[in-house]
Amino acid sequence: MGDKPKSPSKSPSPPAADSSAEPVSDPLRLQAAEEDAEAGSSDLDSIFGESNSSSTTSINSTILEYRRLHGRTYQNFKDAEYWGPNDDRQNEGLDMAHHMMYVAFNNKLHLAPLENPQKVLDLGTGTGIWAIDFADQHPSAEVIGTDLSPIQPVWVPPNCKFELDNCEDYPWTYPDDTFDYIHIRGLVGCVRDWERLYAECLRCLKPGGWLEQQEFALPIAGNDAPLPDDCVWHDWGAVFREAGRKMGRSFEVTDHWEGWLRGAGFTGTLHTSSVRLPIGGWAADSRWKEVGLFNRLSLEQGLEGFATYICTQVLGWRPDEVTVLLAKVRQAIKNPSYHAYYPLKTVYTQKPLASE
Ligand SMILES: C[S@@+](CC[C@H](N)C(=O)[O-])C[C@H]1O[C@@H](n2cnc3c(N)ncnc32)[C@H](O)[C@@H]1O
Repeated sequence: MGDKPKSPSKSPSPPAADSSAEPVSDPLRLQAAEEDAEAGSSDLDSIFGESNSSSTTSINSTILEYRRLHGRTYQNFKDAEYWGPNDDRQNEGLDMAHHMMYVAFNNKLHLAPLENPQKVLDLGTGTGIWAIDFADQHPSAEVIGTDLSPIQPVWVPPNCKFELDNCEDYPWTYPDDTFDYIHIRGLVGCVRDWERLYAECLRCLKPGGWLEQQEFALPIAGNDAPLPDDCVWHDWGAVFREAGRKMGRSFEVTDHWEGWLRGAGFTGTLHTSSVRLPIGGWAADSRWKEVGLFNRLSLEQGLEGFATYICTQVLGWRPDEVTVLLAKVRQAIKNPSYHAYYPLKTVYTQKPLASE
């Protein structure tokens, strides 16, 4: 596998390789401003209708003026940066991925051994689907989901609420020893300083409370035989690795869990595990076949959104180069000779009791 992400087409030249770890300084904001200027204000107005704006009057209206890029919308929370779109198309993909993970974990929402949790935080909650399901399963718990985008439904269980928040704004407003459980899922490429974030989790957990995180890991690999050298899944992984380096927000979070959690002050046992999420319905076992089929659906739904900002704004590709990459990935997803999977890794650990 090559180290550098290459654009897939032969003729267009890829961006000059930049091996420095310089973060990009919010290129999306600039691009969005240009596109908005072209589109005019009526385009922005169409993003949210009357009913939505009146039901969210407590939200600063600029947060609802989503940034636009190549026909997709993106969060606009103060100075926050996040590479994924926040439109319906992307959000449906998140919900499909939620179902996939639920099945992969044998219909469980968590692996940490929780006992009657009362106060729960879901960081980067997305559509809030995990938080809603968790609140339904634990009616006595108060569940808070936070995110940069107000994309969560209005009708939710009474013990579930959502807050707009940037988890990189430190210190968090929660007092010490607040939560029994903090859940993080799918925040690769989102956080500049994980050690700082974990330190905040430690502070805000009650003694004996649990932190749990689930993340997709690289590389995408072949289950029973290696993927061929020219397989586009190698390029796909390289794109995200390089983009993470350039943004200063790694996509390889799971490789650093131990160092970062220990650095943040978690001294308890780190319980780690990994499952292989098949891409497509190639698995013989019916449960893993279902996981693979939902993975395929969710990937097909989310692909363009995953790649657009990363390739054009971070790596400097042209849109047509992204189109070629996506076409190759769509073919790879359907290729029955690839038994490709990517790892989904979990870590959970406990804040020591005061006496420990
Ligand atoms: C890939 S989605 C995962 C959503 C959800 N955790 C799930 O598993 O379905 C990542 C989410 O993290 C949110 N996010 C990214 N950076 C964030 C930040 N700094 N603070 C809060 N939320 C953030 C995004 O807005 C997006 O909704």
